[in-house]
Amino acid sequence: MNSLAGLKILLGFEVGTGEEVYMNLHHTVITGMTQLSGKTTTLEALISRSKKQAIAFKTKRGEGGFNNYIEIQPFFNQRADWQYVSSILEAVLREKMRFERPWIMRATKNTKTLREVLENIQQLRAESNPTTLAENVYTALEEYLKIVVPQIEKFEFSKKLMLHEGINVMDLTLMSVELQSLVIQSTMEFVISKLQDVIIIIPEAWEHLPQGRNTPVKLYAETFIRKGASIGNYLFIDSQDIAGIDKTPLRQCNNWILGRQREGHEVERVREQLGKTKFSADDIRTLPIGHFYAILGDEIKNVYVLPAGVPDELGKKVAKGEIDSSEVKKYLSNPGDENKKEAPIDVPQLLPAPNDTTLKRIEDLELKIIKIEKEASLLRSEFELLRRDITNINLKFNDIISIQKQDRKEDVVKIITENTTFNIDDLNLLVDQRMHQILKYDRPTTFVNIDVSSAFKNAIKDNILKQIAFNIRNIPKNTTTAAMLIHERKTMRRGELYGLLYSSMGKRMDDFYKDIQLLEEAKIINYNKDTGIIKWSLGEYLEKELGNLYDENTRNEFENYLTSLLLPANN
Ligand SMILES: Nc1ncnc2c1ncn2[C@@H]1O[C@H](COP(=O)(O)OP(=O)(O)O)[C@@H](O)[C@H]1O
Ligand SMILES: [Mg+2]
Repeated sequence: MNSLAGLKILLGFEVGTGEEVYMNLHHTVITGMTQLSGKTTTLEALISRSKKQAIAFKTKRGEGGFNNYIEIQPFFNQRADWQYVSSILEAVLREKMRFERPWIMRATKNTKTLREVLENIQQLRAESNPTTLAENVYTALEEYLKIVVPQIEKFEFSKKLMLHEGINVMDLTLMSVELQSLVIQSTMEFVISKLQDVIIIIPEAWEHLPQGRNTPVKLYAETFIRKGASIGNYLFIDSQDIAGIDKTPLRQCNNWILGRQREGHEVERVREQLGKTKFSADDIRTLPIGHFYAILGDEIKNVYVLPAGVPDELGKKVAKGEIDSSEVKKYLSNPGDENKKEAPIDVPQLLPAPNDTTLKRIEDLELKIIKIEKEASLLRSEFELLRRDITNINLKFNDIISIQKQDRKEDVVKIITENTTFNIDDLNLLVDQRMHQILKYDRPTTFVNIDVSSAFKNAIKDNILKQIAFNIRNIPKNTTTAAMLIHERKTMRRGELYGLLYSSMGKRMDDFYKDIQLLEEAKIINYNKDTGIIKWSLGEYLEKELGNLYDENTRNEFENYLTSLLLPANN
């Protein structure tokens, strides 16, 4: 059944002694600075010597690839059932939602494609009350599906996964990160349910197995890892560093192959893994290309990895320090070429060895690269946020336009199209007219007091209070203690609340965050993830919703009434 279990593969040679180092095939993580450690070369070597099938994904243009591989068509099995859509939603909202199931079931009734789910959701969202949780859920899903559905329709996917021995690469470079994640997840799912003895390589793991955020790949990785090992399917995780990736899948990896790092914190993280005292920061900083500290089960080896196609003897020499790893480079462009095996190994170098100034310059440049990579990753996440904002704004804008179209066709501003003398005054006029329209026909809640009757006013109030009261009554008993504590303190720090309540009750951090989320959804508290400050916010919420209808005293009465619902029912 499990033909790969216990399979030992040659990883390389121990630095110093030149002894062979073998690795048990298992879930594996490999880290190290891009271009300076040799991760891709190592993975290729392992797969080539295992003689198994592997699937890798190319997610970035220009990403240093494998030497020997076969490109296959991306595989994607479109699902539109509620379990699948729930897991997408979980990934989009970053956290598990407690009440979403019935809404998702409604949206996925009889659906076969995500396009149909999207259409259902647009319908349901239009029908649902704009302030409810259901509407939030639908909006988040709609926004996400609007990104992926057109892309799913644009690309041609294979419905079957035909693998060849060696590395099968799916090129996903033209897809958005969201779709890449769906494709990788779908492939993992297919492998687990239909295949065995297949290795899946997750590249750029910080993007698909990130810390602090869910993705379809991350949610599925746990299942893959758990079920995979017993049928010989393994995950190889490739990442520049340990910092950005989720630790849960890492903990399940028996093999850690850790290469050169430069940045202080990351060096420390590597040392931590290795059991600090044995290795110095300089040991990690100076690892040459192809050299790694490998944690293989219980053993730690300093190893020079033998690339595919390089003769053992040569690898041994590098491990013993007799020759430099750059001497084996000539084998790397064409690993299968037997003729090259006899090539002399001590050909004179064409370039003189770099002197101290050059080395210093190289180091400076490397440090600059690290800084730039950090900045790029910050910019990437900012960009991601902005893109979400834009989608949201577009949704709202479309709503405004459709309301206007329905209501007042005759008031539509005449758009000056062929007027070549269009100047700034015309533009101002246009903006004024537009603003006027928006104010007139899309009255935000802050304008409702202009002409509402008191009955109208009451209905609004009742609706809002009912909603909050319902939510508060639904807060589980042991969560209300937290709510009361926050009410008494008005503001407190996350750590303080956790210390006061949860650590003593033996609750896990997960539960803590679930409780916080629940109280936030009930509109009674506000939690700022960046500062860690938790605030009692019911008063603010009532002010926002009812500030124009009721004065402060009346609102305080509402607040007191709602707060009293936190007390146990028999009081
Ligand atoms: N074990 C090795 N011995 C000699 N050269 C290597 C070795 N591993 C990688 N290299 C060289 O180092 C460069 C970067 O390797 P690569 O595997 O693409 O690194 P990474 O995936 O970590 O960015 C390549 O030019 C490759 O030929
Ligand atoms: Mg690489």
